[in-house]
Amino acid sequence: MSKDTTRPIPAFIDLGAQREKMGDGLAKALIAVLESGQYVLGPQVTEIEQQLAAFCGAKHCISCANGTDALLLALMAEGIGAGDAVFVPAFTFVATAEVAVLVGATPVFVDVRRDTFNMDTDSLEGAIGVANANGLKPRAIIAVDLFGQPADYARINEIAEAHGLVVIDDAAQSFGAALNGKKVGTLGAYTATSFYPSKPLGGYGDGGAIFTDNDAKAELLLSLRNHGKGPGQKETEEIGLNSRLDSFQAVVLLEKLKLFPAEIAARQVAADRYSARLGAAAKVPELMAGASSVWAQYTIVTDRRDALATACRQAGVPTAIHYTSALHKLTPYREFPTAPDGLPQAEWLSERVISLPMHGYLSEAGQDTVIDTVLGALGSGAGSVAAE
Ligand SMILES: Cc1ncc(COP(=O)(O)O)c(C=O)c1O
Repeated sequence: MSKDTTRPIPAFIDLGAQREKMGDGLAKALIAVLESGQYVLGPQVTEIEQQLAAFCGAKHCISCANGTDALLLALMAEGIGAGDAVFVPAFTFVATAEVAVLVGATPVFVDVRRDTFNMDTDSLEGAIGVANANGLKPRAIIAVDLFGQPADYARINEIAEAHGLVVIDDAAQSFGAALNGKKVGTLGAYTATSFYPSKPLGGYGDGGAIFTDNDAKAELLLSLRNHGKGPGQKETEEIGLNSRLDSFQAVVLLEKLKLFPAEIAARQVAADRYSARLGAAAKVPELMAGASSVWAQYTIVTDRRDALATACRQAGVPTAIHYTSALHKLTPYREFPTAPDGLPQAEWLSERVISLPMHGYLSEAGQDTVIDTVLGALGSGAGSVAAE
């Protein structure tokens, strides 16, 4: 397919359009930080923590240096370590499993569902059995809200309760989404999110946050993120980390939070337009009943991914693959236990997923370029993917 220069080619994620929308308020706020001399954990950090907690309805928000640390800090707050099993989906970004290894625990891989891309709760129950049979102590579930849609927390929390496990929501991709009227930030005992620039609510650098309703754990997290010395503590009380948020990032997030609700709505409109037309050519994402997504990625599934990627490249339409490998296939993660029936869906998806441009400033004409390119490559009415 030749490149048609008369048609708008959308960016995969358009941070420039968002930057224009912010006007000069951000520059003024950044200069104020520069002149204040309080570059780390300044008053703007407290302000964004309060606004984020209010946004999602969580009692506490504890900011930190990135989304990986947010997960790590939640595991540390629970004292999870050697001999403990942490259940993680096999189809996610590597940080989800990495943190279990970093605290000395064992990640146990759980399969995901084809329809939602999220943790399969039958596979989770099987994986708990595997951990017990291997002499590991089941301690935590890190459920990922992949591509922006919450996992099935009603069932996950039920399983967690039955087995005495703590639920950590890896919401790096889903802050702003909701499930059955409850916002992400309130769906598990802890919620960990990321403000990496490409995330739905992203800064201009690294950043992250943990949400919890537990007062004692919130206090512990404030200490753990700052070398084990919390705001009210005279001495070091814990072995912690340096995982503090910069005031500059807090200011960026305060400005971007103002635009966030409109951006979420615009992403939904774009996702609806994509799904209405692309369903004829590929398997389009499905939302669970009662769930909303912030569409961190709009990801379709096709048996002809290579052909589609080539056609998009030729048309100038950017695409990305999240993720090219299930985690248990990656060299450093090959030795860890898996659910008893293996991880067939995670493997299947890693061979067929492809993500299309998605952000809050995608014009209808840009969406049409993407849609026409996909339909041109795959053909409409061609059906989607091989039957299960
Ligand atoms: C599912 C998931 N978990 C964790 C992370 C880690 O976040 P960060 O890059 O801020 O450390 C990411 C970020 O890409 C992610 O997508």
